[in-house]
Amino acid sequence: MKILFVGDVVGVNGVNLLRKSLPQLKKEYNCDVCIVNGENSNESGTGMNSRDAQDIFGCGADVITGGNHSMRRANMQLYTENEFILCPANLLYSEGGCGVSVVDMGRHQLRVINLMGVAFIDNHRNPFFELDKILKDISCKNIIVDFHAESTAEKYAFANYADGRVSAVIGTHTHVQTNDEQILPKGTAYITDAGAVCANNSVLGVVTELAIEKQKYLKPVQFKTADGEGYVCGVFVETDNNGKTVKIEKFRRLVK
Ligand SMILES: [Fe+2]
Ligand SMILES: [Fe+2]
Repeated sequence: MKILFVGDVVGVNGVNLLRKSLPQLKKEYNCDVCIVNGENSNESGTGMNSRDAQDIFGCGADVITGGNHSMRRANMQLYTENEFILCPANLLYSEGGCGVSVVDMGRHQLRVINLMGVAFIDNHRNPFFELDKILKDISCKNIIVDFHAESTAEKYAFANYADGRVSAVIGTHTHVQTNDEQILPKGTAYITDAGAVCANNSVLGVVTELAIEKQKYLKPVQFKTADGEGYVCGVFVETDNNGKTVKIEKFRRLVK
């Protein structure tokens, strides 16, 4: 199975960059399924509402994942009404069902799981135990986890914990693509962070001056997302008939 995964799409500009680049990427990688993280796709740069989700589907995504901002512009209804829109399964205020999706390709099935880390971020249910709970009910061979987390140590430990039990653990949230894509000893693909889809001239998608003001003075600042050319970042993952990954390749393309 050939799976394309795109990192956090930031704001209207991010969605536009995705619209311009995703059809070509899907064609190039001849992908069966495309997963996009949409937790920053609202025009505000945080959260995603129903309209934002439809825009991302319109760009060519099959499944949309989320993260710590999933509930900022939506309530749980968005995630319970559409099985292809996910928020982290371990959110304290969810039952977990909105964090797992099934993509049926006829001969092959893919499960997409969305989980959040708990180190240096919100304190939700422990993702390690949550993964065990989810995998108990899954017999599917192809399983991709979007692990939305801040800490590199937590991401690495989690991926090794999942090694051999899922096809890939793809990190999201930091908006900076890491250079550590690899296949772990028992066949699970891993990257600490897939990166983002946002303006190049920005701080993680936010207007540079505003981001500096917040970091310099530690005062609340109304963020605006930055416009202009940017990068679309993500990974391509290919699995064999047993759901083991045979290839992981990251991409970071400039889109004007
Ligand atoms: Fe996030
Ligand atoms: Fe994000």
